[in-house]
Amino acid sequence: MPVMTVPRLLEKKLRRERIVALTAYDAGFGALLDQAGVDLVLVGDSVANVLQGLETTLPVSLEEMAYHTRLVARSVRQALVVADLPFGSYQTSPEEAVRSAVVLIKAGAAAVKLEGGVRMQATIERLVEADIPVLGHVGLTPQSIHALGGYKVQRDAKRLMRDARAVQSAGAFGVVLEAVPARLAAEVTAALKIPTIGIGAGKRCDGQILVLHDLLGLTARAPKFAKRYASLGETVSAAVKAYASDVRAGRFPGSEHSF
Ligand code: KIV
Repeated sequence: MPVMTVPRLLEKKLRRERIVALTAYDAGFGALLDQAGVDLVLVGDSVANVLQGLETTLPVSLEEMAYHTRLVARSVRQALVVADLPFGSYQTSPEEAVRSAVVLIKAGAAAVKLEGGVRMQATIERLVEADIPVLGHVGLTPQSIHALGGYKVQRDAKRLMRDARAVQSAGAFGVVLEAVPARLAAEVTAALKIPTIGIGAGKRCDGQILVLHDLLGLTARAPKFAKRYASLGETVSAAVKAYASDVRAGRFPGSEHSF
């Protein structure tokens, strides 16, 4: 498979080929996703919920994002690695956004993602001007959790369309649509030239993204829009219980595991 690039991702929309995207936070899962043929690997600030045991994505630092981006970029050969700009690393000015994005690009990302539409237009323009490809993110933007008042489906059609168009005209190469009614996501997808990547946005987006650990059944609670393709949490729990019971009963290590 050829290496995924921003222009190739744009071609996928023209060819009506759906884009497959997932999150990863380390080299091991990065390699597995890459070998399975995923187009885009997002080093998401969902690392907060998935690995750091936090309720929101707000505390994640730029240094932490750079660290996880380095791990993922080390093992991904084909897929496009996109890293999330964390909360507080780009909101104060477009210049701050460029400085923060440079840290993630130097860590191995090919592009950055940031949350917000109209209000982020100038920031996206400045990043694109600095040759940093940007993936937008509109609809439910988890970094705005306090302003939005909770993780709720975003139903304001005019606002969604305005935000998505602003992201496109600022020069982003794609946009994530999170937690929006399927019909609205379909309208936005039809109106834009850049690909839309949906999460809880129905099947008529140009691509889909999920948090890897939700798909694998490794999170205690997954949102309604996440489909579980495996129950690894149960597998891990059973394996650890079997190990504990073997150790306690003196069955492990056996002679084959001993020198
Ligand atoms: O951080 C993340 O994982 C994300 C995706 C869910 C889109 O932003």
